[in-house]
Amino acid sequence: MWKTIEWSENDTVVMIDQTKLPREEVYVSCENYLDVAHAIKVMQIRGAPAIGVAAAMGVAIGALAIDETDVSAFKKKLSEVCEHLAGTRPTAVNLFWGIEKMKQVLKKNEGEPVDVLKRLLKDKAIEICHEDVKINEAMGTNGASFIPDGANILTHCNAGALATAGFGTALGVIRAAFNEGKKIHVYADETRPFLQGARLTAWELMKDNIPVTLITDNMAGYLMQQGKIDLVVVGSDRITSTGFVANKIGTYSVAVLAKKHGIPFYVAAPISTVDFDIADGSEVPIEEREIREVTHVFGEAIAPEGVKVFNPAFDVTPPELVSAIITEKGVAQAPFKEALAKQRAE
Ligand code: MRU
Repeated sequence: MWKTIEWSENDTVVMIDQTKLPREEVYVSCENYLDVAHAIKVMQIRGAPAIGVAAAMGVAIGALAIDETDVSAFKKKLSEVCEHLAGTRPTAVNLFWGIEKMKQVLKKNEGEPVDVLKRLLKDKAIEICHEDVKINEAMGTNGASFIPDGANILTHCNAGALATAGFGTALGVIRAAFNEGKKIHVYADETRPFLQGARLTAWELMKDNIPVTLITDNMAGYLMQQGKIDLVVVGSDRITSTGFVANKIGTYSVAVLAKKHGIPFYVAAPISTVDFDIADGSEVPIEEREIREVTHVFGEAIAPEGVKVFNPAFDVTPPELVSAIITEKGVAQAPFKEALAKQRAE
């Protein structure tokens, strides 16, 4: 069985290379924190929760390599590691959450020597990875009741096992419904330009024998008009305290279409994806990626050389288009501010 990310026995971080899927099933072995940062940046690992796990492991692997016995010198070097990892991708709040969790290990263990801190950091990173799978399974259980037997479900991007330590968020909800014996069928948007839907969602659903049909992004409206979609479920990279949902570019268009056709639009994400420090969607930093992602497909140019390109990687769906936010703690419905705050406090 393939794994998205794992801490290996020889203290390296091993990830399935998502830039190579589905053509090749190969693994990247990160020997140091720079390798981990690179893997996040070039999207060998991607998806908000998976990025959070990778960042935590990056901090741990960085800590193990610090050759200092003096605690304050060790902490100083570790903060440089954290800063470097934090600079890899801006939108998924889970990245910063993962790093913060690791910093808290230091705060909670003031007075411990460096070798103990190193062990605790490694243990924490491994724990975050294992916990993520449990969180997704709980989310799946909470969300499965929204999936009727026989449902045709649209999803965008990849919010699956590949985007997490395992099981997935949006695809976790779908998996849970499937595992309950419901006859379901998934339409996967291909998700231009990085093709997470075509390359990753289709791949992992087929591996699990969950019926999936691939469509291009511009087909979603037609399918809705034809009555072929019963509900939409997507993941998220950052949810504001009031329920604005940042997710892969194109999610907003799907949400508008769903509203127009009276189709429920669900978001599945761990509570760690909620950024309680911001309220409005305009406060979410939107990553812009290199233009080559748009002008080239698998190394082949598909646009005239020199064309101007805009490549924002995420968009923000306002709360009025969101039917419910499914987390591991329960299901939040509007008004999201109160519902999410309640879940956070539990
Ligand atoms: O750019 P990516 O592939 O990291 O974007 C991923 C998404 O937008 C996912 O939908 C989101 O991270 C949720 S993953 C459980």
